[in-house]
Amino acid sequence: MSRRRLAAGLLGLALPLASQASSSLASEMGCYNCHGQPMRAEAPSFERLSAKFAKRNGQAGAEQHAVDELLQGEGFRHIPAHEHLSPETARKLVHWLFEGGK
Ligand code: HEC
Repeated sequence: MSRRRLAAGLLGLALPLASQASSSLASEMGCYNCHGQPMRAEAPSFERLSAKFAKRNGQAGAEQHAVDELLQGEGFRHIPAHEHLSPETARKLVHWLFEGGK
């Protein structure tokens, strides 16, 4: 009971920090190695991805769908940098992109 309340309190503290930290999280995770300038391996820029995601922002399940796609790879495309993300980190980064990727 009290432990659960503590966890909820910690989560409340962590969430605002997490949403601010995402562009540094993205560089920490090496995302800009391919999605930055100059781009590599046909990776779309985060600017373009955010523009694409912005159209789906607010649609039920759209964010979760993007997270799943990122973690599982699409078709024959498998990108280890995507697939090795923890679900939690993937969710944060996708959320950041849905919010504009700034
Ligand atoms: C080794 C290069 C590489 C790295 C590192 C990389 N990506 Fe990608 N990413 C790609 C490529 C290539 C595509 C395009 C895939 C395609 O066209 O199917 C892509 C596509 C994406 C997409 C779009 C998927 C969609 O729905 O179309 C997202 C979101 C994404 N990357 C996020 C990330 C994040 C977040 C990181 C950092 C953890 C990251 N990528 C690191 C190469 C990379």
